[in-house]
Amino acid sequence: MSKFGSPVAAATDGAAEASGPAPRMFIKSFGCQMNVYDSQRMADVAIGEGYRETERIEDADLVILNTCHIRERASEKVFSELGKIRELKEARATAGLSTTLVVAGCVAQAEGAEIRRRQPAVDIVVGPQSYHRLPSLLRAERGVETEFPPESKFDHLPPSTPAAVRARGVSAFVTVQEGCDKFCSFCVVPYTRGAEASRPAADILAEIGALARAGAREFTLIGQNVNAYHGRSESGGVARLADLLAAAARVPGVLRLRYSTSHPLDMSEDLIRAHAENEKLAPHLHLPVQSGSDRILAVMNRRHGVRGYLEIVARVREARPDIAFSSDFIVGFPGETDADFEATLALAREVEFASAYAFKYSPRPGTPAADAAAQVDIATKERRLATLQQLLEAQRQAFNSATVGRRFAVIFDKPGRRPGQLIGRTPYMQSVHADVDASRMGELTEIEITGVKPNSLAGRVVTQPARRSREVA
Ligand code: 5AD
Ligand code: SF4
Repeated sequence: MSKFGSPVAAATDGAAEASGPAPRMFIKSFGCQMNVYDSQRMADVAIGEGYRETERIEDADLVILNTCHIRERASEKVFSELGKIRELKEARATAGLSTTLVVAGCVAQAEGAEIRRRQPAVDIVVGPQSYHRLPSLLRAERGVETEFPPESKFDHLPPSTPAAVRARGVSAFVTVQEGCDKFCSFCVVPYTRGAEASRPAADILAEIGALARAGAREFTLIGQNVNAYHGRSESGGVARLADLLAAAARVPGVLRLRYSTSHPLDMSEDLIRAHAENEKLAPHLHLPVQSGSDRILAVMNRRHGVRGYLEIVARVREARPDIAFSSDFIVGFPGETDADFEATLALAREVEFASAYAFKYSPRPGTPAADAAAQVDIATKERRLATLQQLLEAQRQAFNSATVGRRFAVIFDKPGRRPGQLIGRTPYMQSVHADVDASRMGELTEIEITGVKPNSLAGRVVTQPARRSREVA
């Protein structure tokens, strides 16, 4: 594999391979799952323009970096990568080969034409809502598209080739909603991804159907505010996320459903009920809380308090007693005191998360919190991050250890390190490996957890039919 990382899973048809020397593309994604999804859709566009994928960036006539702007470090990584690609581009030019370099994603949206001033090797800058305009940009070989277009890219992106659909694998991500109207004071997403918009249910269900026919079994419906989903229903009304999950559960081949990422304000009654009623919905919910201090939550403009969050956790647990929660936290938000931070620790202790991410607050240009006077010093941020991460890691290990001896329906989706081994996920998103026949790939296989490793679980196939319990549904 190239030092630049792995490309989007091979998405070209064998036919393209046979039809002579097509120009080659290499796409690299940073950041969230939506970027991974977008990269797959950009690959569809490039394939439509005659490109085929290469795993070696050195061989690529077209390089697309799909970037993330969520924290400072994420953006910096993009510019250091661009520096390396510039050298590569110069080396290829010496050999008489041209390279088109595209910056897509949230850094493209946030920085626009400025990127080309900082790194002149960049030819094309395209924001997340304009990927359907890539063909004309590629033909012109340069340009900047960061306006929010009036049309939806989903209506104009080319269909995926059968090979590209197969390449999405057993466990597939499907964007159902994009953008955000919440304007948390730390977050760039409302500026980079734009206003909240939901895809029509029929389009999403058609995509899920096509993926299922190609072998996908586990589906994660994604959106920056996925539980705010309100797309056109198949009957012309409004479908909410619970309706969409119910319809997705009926699509032949769908074995398990997840959704991410949710805002506490949009955990509506029908969605909570879906956790009790929708048998395919995994008992796992990623519900970022960010802070355990009411004061900080208010200045973050989260529009809920600690009590509101804990009430949602309790209601979801009532609907689905075996549910596991994961979350996101920010430490060192402007004005955060030791007492505020203690309140965050107290919330984490109370909920007992199965896993969670914690981040140091990173001022993002253009967001309200970036200009706050009371920025927290870096040493305090680092100390708080280490303390919170220690607690969250202990909770993760306790959760994992408690699964030893329990049985779960695991969907295996990739080969393991050793021959004869497969890797899959429990309903709780834990990675598990076991000696399983390759024919079990993509099927619900009952596994007993036999051990815990630092980042995964070991399991064995249960041969006798076990009592069907709620947790293996
Ligand atoms: N600084 C640090 N973390 C952030 N996140 C979003 N914006 C920032 C920021 N400015 C975190 C939040 C969010 C996750 C995707 O990234 O916790 O839930
Ligand atoms: Fe990064 Fe957020 Fe953009 Fe995803 S939506 S690429 S996490 S900034």
